[in-house]
Amino acid sequence: MSLSSLKRKDLFEQNGFIADNWASSSSGATFTVINPATLETLATLPEMNGKDTESAISAAHTAFQSYKKTTARQRATWLRRWHSLCLENIDDLALILTLENGKPLTEAKGEVMYAASFLEWFAGEAERVHGEVVPAANASHRILTVKQPLGVAACLAPWNFPIAMITRKVGAALAAGCTTVWKPAGETPLSALAQAVLAKEAGFPGGTINVITTLTNVAEVGEALCKSKLVRKLSFTGSTRVGKLLASQCSQNLTKLSLELGGNSPFIVFDDAKLDTAVEACILAKFRNSGQTCVTANRIFVQEGIYDKFAAALVEKIKTLKIGNGVEEGVVIGPLTHDRAIEKAIAHIRDAQDKGASLLLGGSPFQPHNLQGYFFQPTVLSGMSTESLTTREEVFAPVVAIYPFKTEEEVTAKANDCDVGLGSFVITESMPRMWRVAENLEVGMVGINLGMLSAAESPFGGVKESGYGREGGRQGIEEYLTVKSILMNVAN
Ligand code: SIN
Repeated sequence: MSLSSLKRKDLFEQNGFIADNWASSSSGATFTVINPATLETLATLPEMNGKDTESAISAAHTAFQSYKKTTARQRATWLRRWHSLCLENIDDLALILTLENGKPLTEAKGEVMYAASFLEWFAGEAERVHGEVVPAANASHRILTVKQPLGVAACLAPWNFPIAMITRKVGAALAAGCTTVWKPAGETPLSALAQAVLAKEAGFPGGTINVITTLTNVAEVGEALCKSKLVRKLSFTGSTRVGKLLASQCSQNLTKLSLELGGNSPFIVFDDAKLDTAVEACILAKFRNSGQTCVTANRIFVQEGIYDKFAAALVEKIKTLKIGNGVEEGVVIGPLTHDRAIEKAIAHIRDAQDKGASLLLGGSPFQPHNLQGYFFQPTVLSGMSTESLTTREEVFAPVVAIYPFKTEEEVTAKANDCDVGLGSFVITESMPRMWRVAENLEVGMVGINLGMLSAAESPFGGVKESGYGREGGRQGIEEYLTVKSILMNVAN
């Protein structure tokens, strides 16, 4: 399958989008997007800069003056149309996603449905935004609150979920009545541009959606978004390092921020776990998007009584997973999106082995079917030491690192001995333990007897250096709203 299989060629857009027009960069510069499975060039896009970003912000600000007055019902209607268009075009959207990100087609279709679910969810939430009447202490006064959109929202999305992270942010922003400037990752801008085509078709007014494309000017574009007085909200998903930089830049105007940053999820298997459940959940939590998710199972803690059985069953299961170009039938593990990820995986594996871990499977880059892409063998390391690099950093590759433990207290302390706290997974049949461990883990999300934390209706986000704010759920739309108190004197 290739680009020629697209039913709607117009979804493969190779321009930015500013003020309702497809736009090249003001400098004329361009960059290329490659297919990580083959390293072939997929597209050439405008390398936009700070000046282009100012134009996009200005268009969004102008559009906000009328968009903020639209009814919630109208915004919900546009969101529902956009949701339907995503599902109608699922094959094309999934193909574009697989070609630029590498994830297998089945998984890409899953991401399109996940992305669309945010549009449907926030269509409903738009009409559930309401203020309150507050009992006033002064008998002559009446107090009420209204919720209003913040203004222009900048939505900075990562390359690992190029569609879902756009709709999770933008769906909430548009539902709230904010207008938007999107900055997709330079490696994967094509999925976001296809979404802009569909959002425009759904009826969103000119200027409510703007897309800046950049690969090398990313710092300049980010700074322009953070430092503009017209941008009142910035939402970012990405690394903790960049999140801290954006937070410092946004401090200049006290721009409201949501940050979904790095994770280091513990995946804890207790002796009383069902082996099949543990293996299945671990495969999902680890190998989704080839290990490149913020909530991937990074530290697999396994209790001594089930350790050997779990490690052996996991290795056998992994051996059945087909690896290759994501467009091929039956492939479940695609390439990594970056060459940097390969170097990092190699460094983590070497370091683990130096600290006593044994390699049960994989361990090297490889080229299935003579492809030239960024492939890495699914890898299992056993007997990990908590001194290893993997204990502190996300591997972001298909590398399973298994750590032994003896008691609940010990594993909870080890899981919490970490600067970040995004996702976590607990596999146990004991109900009291589910409660205890879920309450004691210092994280934003806990998955019990499952390997996925993603649902539009469930708030997504972290604690500690994983950031703040929540996306999705009832909380997601609140991030784009402000509360205004109105106090009245009703005395004669
Ligand atoms: C992420 O990796 O940042 C998002 C994953 C998800 O929403 O499931």
